[in-house]
Amino acid sequence: MTSIAFIGLGVMGYPMAGHLAAAGHDVRVFNRTGAKADAWAAEHTGSVAASPAEAADGADIVITIVGADDDVRAVTSGPGGALETMGAGAVLVDHTTASADVARELHGICAAKGIGFVDAPVSGGEAGAQNGKLTIMCGGDAEVFARVESVLDTYAVGVTLLGPAGAGQLTKMVNQVCIAGILAGLSEGVHLAMAAGLDIDQVTETLSKGAAGSWQMANRAPTMAAGEFDFGFAVDWFRKDLGIALDESRRLGTSLPTAAAVDQLYARIQARGGNRWDTSSLIDLLTNP
Ligand SMILES: NC(=O)c1ccc[n+]([C@@H]2O[C@H](COP(=O)([O-])OP(=O)(O)OC[C@H]3O[C@@H](n4cnc5c(N)ncnc54)[C@H](OP(=O)(O)O)[C@@H]3O)[C@@H](O)[C@H]2O)c1
Repeated sequence: MTSIAFIGLGVMGYPMAGHLAAAGHDVRVFNRTGAKADAWAAEHTGSVAASPAEAADGADIVITIVGADDDVRAVTSGPGGALETMGAGAVLVDHTTASADVARELHGICAAKGIGFVDAPVSGGEAGAQNGKLTIMCGGDAEVFARVESVLDTYAVGVTLLGPAGAGQLTKMVNQVCIAGILAGLSEGVHLAMAAGLDIDQVTETLSKGAAGSWQMANRAPTMAAGEFDFGFAVDWFRKDLGIALDESRRLGTSLPTAAAVDQLYARIQARGGNRWDTSSLIDLLTNP
């Protein structure tokens, strides 16, 4: 049994912390909006802390999954953050999709205190978090990774160390850039199929087995055709992720023309009120021009 502090009980964090409690770990949770932490504790075995620092006090592993870079800083290195109380030998794991810069920054702050750090963004969405089938992309020191791997495995289909601090976030950027292109193509494909009067379910089932098959096609094509977007991964979050990838690409001197164009298309989805729509809502620009 490991003593774990879990910070951030949103769409993803709530079920992830639940898997840790169900596995028998000693889990102490913190959530900025306290009602969510109380609801979690009513449903699971574990306790509630009043601040990230209180949650982290005495913990072997501190896990965070919040919004973006400054939110990660707020719950870790900021006032009342977890790093105020974490002891030497503990490990901080950040599952937030954030920049590689913030990962390297936290790795440095932690190293100076004898604390391990692993950046560990996830893929698999809300369903992956609920079913314990996330893909976890890690960056950090091999020895530190080895100490947390089996705990992260509690809610994962795969946990992989891809390089030093920041490598997990860089890999997640690659993931999001690929998804941008896939969704742009899938939107046009579904739009063409609808215009041609094809049966979308039949088309999806047939093509999913071939070279154009993708998670997005298998899971989203039917709801795209139906114009249903009130679920899933929010456009606001995706634009945050594409912004991180585009910033990194500028720093590396590379160009990502398709990701940049798709990012601008999502700005138009936001302009029509789709901030919290699922990312498959890109098709709305074609079906409702
Ligand atoms: N949803 C997905 O499908 C998905 C998939 C992969 C990765 N991700 C990534 O995972 C992260 C979380 O996503 P989510 O969907 O779980 O988001 P969410 O439902 O909006 O939850 C965000 C959580 O972070 C907390 N938080 C945000 N800013 C904070 C701050 N400054 N101080 C303290 N707590 C703060 C929120 O607290 P409150 O409850 O008080 O607001 C909430 O618990 C994001 O980086 C996202 O990009 C999401």
